[in-house]
Amino acid sequence: MALHVEGVDLVSKIYRLPAALANQIAAGEVVERPASVVKELIENAIDAGAKRINVVTEFGGKKLISVEDDGEGMTPDDAKLAVERHATSKLRTSDDLAAILTLGFRGEALPSIASVSRFRLRTRTRGAMSGTEIRIEAGETVSAKEVGAPEGTLIEVQDLFYNLPARRKFLKADTAESAQISKLVSQLALGYPEVGFLLRSGGRTVVETPPASSLAERFFQMYGDRPDLIEVRKQAAGITIHGYVAALGEAGPVRGPQHVFVNRRLVRDRTINHAIQQAYSVATIKERSPEVHLFIELPPDRVDVNVHPTKAEVRFLDTGLVHEVLRRGIVDALGQTGVPELVLSQATLTPSLPMAGALPLSFGVRSADPLGDAIERAIQMPGIADASAFMGASSAAMGMNNDPRVGAAPGRETIATLIKPMTPLGQFRNTFIIAVDDEGLAIIDQHVAHERILFEQISERLLSGTLESQRLLTPIILDFGAGEHATLKGHFEGLAKFGFELEDFGGTSIRVVAVPAILKIEESAAALRAAAGDLEGLTPGSGINESVRQLAALMACHAAVKANDPLTIDKMKHLLDELRRTAHSSVCPHGRPVVLRLTRREIERNFDRI
Ligand SMILES: Nc1ncnc2c1ncn2[C@@H]1O[C@H](COP(=O)(O)OP(=O)(O)OP(=O)(O)O)[C@@H](O)[C@H]1O
Ligand SMILES: [Mg+2]
Repeated sequence: MALHVEGVDLVSKIYRLPAALANQIAAGEVVERPASVVKELIENAIDAGAKRINVVTEFGGKKLISVEDDGEGMTPDDAKLAVERHATSKLRTSDDLAAILTLGFRGEALPSIASVSRFRLRTRTRGAMSGTEIRIEAGETVSAKEVGAPEGTLIEVQDLFYNLPARRKFLKADTAESAQISKLVSQLALGYPEVGFLLRSGGRTVVETPPASSLAERFFQMYGDRPDLIEVRKQAAGITIHGYVAALGEAGPVRGPQHVFVNRRLVRDRTINHAIQQAYSVATIKERSPEVHLFIELPPDRVDVNVHPTKAEVRFLDTGLVHEVLRRGIVDALGQTGVPELVLSQATLTPSLPMAGALPLSFGVRSADPLGDAIERAIQMPGIADASAFMGASSAAMGMNNDPRVGAAPGRETIATLIKPMTPLGQFRNTFIIAVDDEGLAIIDQHVAHERILFEQISERLLSGTLESQRLLTPIILDFGAGEHATLKGHFEGLAKFGFELEDFGGTSIRVVAVPAILKIEESAAALRAAAGDLEGLTPGSGINESVRQLAALMACHAAVKANDPLTIDKMKHLLDELRRTAHSSVCPHGRPVVLRLTRREIERNFDRI
């Protein structure tokens, strides 16, 4: 395009964008919705050392967003610079960029916001006689003057996107935008316990957290007492992990929000998500997103924060290291009652095991439940597990020192020799096996115990090839929903490893030619239907291991003895012997506990023998 300027035809087709337009373009990335404005303004206040931050919004932030802080404020000259593009106090050289210590660093937020709203900045530095007020509309400065003002900074953003109707149209209903804002303020409040936050939305107080002295205190302010979460603390290789994560309850870990802060910056990160998933997958396969609130600290030069337009992602220099430290931190916390560190290291180094589920770690060993009733408590206490958890938990309950042999990282063979066999006494309601050993009484859920045993065996078998299959005399034709049919078709090969021989029968039908030898024929159909559902429900990208793992668990579940199945004493004995040989046998593959124990100490105490 040729421009006509003062009678001269310019040949150049390129020209410099006016500042307001450049800022609007930048705003396209920085300011997506009211919540992004709130985020930028709160982060500025935090960077300015604020101890109190008050946020007020009207109409989901579309009409008004106001953020006031008691931070260091700006001088008149700084205030004028602050609203210009690429003006920042947080960065001077490219070396600084390699180790960012502040939340902001680009010098883009304020000019971007001011270019798409009616913007007012009022600020005063500590000890200054007066303050400065600047008004900007759609990027054009309307006024800048000296005013009286409290120390700190107030920024008001009115009529967001009023000059960009197309962007405004994309905003959601006020309630939805308000919800995003309160979620964001809560998240930042969690990340900055020392700062007091107040959010008022449409005249209602939505978040109010006075300054707290620790994460634990802030956590309590926000979430109350949460016995279903456990604390994570880990320090290794210059990386520190602290926070709270879902414990392994009877029904698996609780689902919930996943908050991850890296050097106090709230981020989303695939490596971190994967590490969390792996840590939990050792004990449970069902839960996709356990609640976590995690704080990861590492030297600022080991993480690049300048990789995402809204600074919501980071890049680690040593991705593998972060993954491993985090995974171990969570694994330690989940299994903390009975897993000596040595066992853990050996387990993690065992190279030949197929999936996380086969690592000889112990889980489901929960600390004592604060129920009043002693028997209730004893029953709810730890299950047996592999040797480490078993010895650790039971000897702790006996008030004895841990057997030193336990720390010697037993392999599977030694595990079996370390645990004395349990003697089955009988069944309770044809569902639970009652057994005794020197340490006390044990109540074993026969279905979940058998399920765990089979899961390990299946996993191991898959390592060396495929499961045995049995051909059907007459093939079965099964009908599926369209989605399930498509899913199954995509997994014929994988299912063949488990012993299923399947053919597409046209429409949404599948012909079953052979089934796994471990399954009864009538169970096979049910297992296949469940497999279709499970595989369809898998999040895309969760990978082949995850589907194998799910199928192994499913197969184990269908092949295992059921509740209400009467068992002979011999069968019970066999089951208990197998259980002794099974890694982390205290929880079933779905995360349910396998064994409840009533320890000798509890029994004696209840008979007043201590
Ligand atoms: N609440 C505040 N209190 C004191 N100074 C502030 C405040 N908000 C902004 N500033 C000053 O204005 C500058 C520009 O802010 P702006 O948010 O535009 O950029 P930034 O924070 O440096 O980087 P980023 O674009 O990554 O947020 C900041 O560097 C800071 O010096
Ligand atoms: Mg900023």
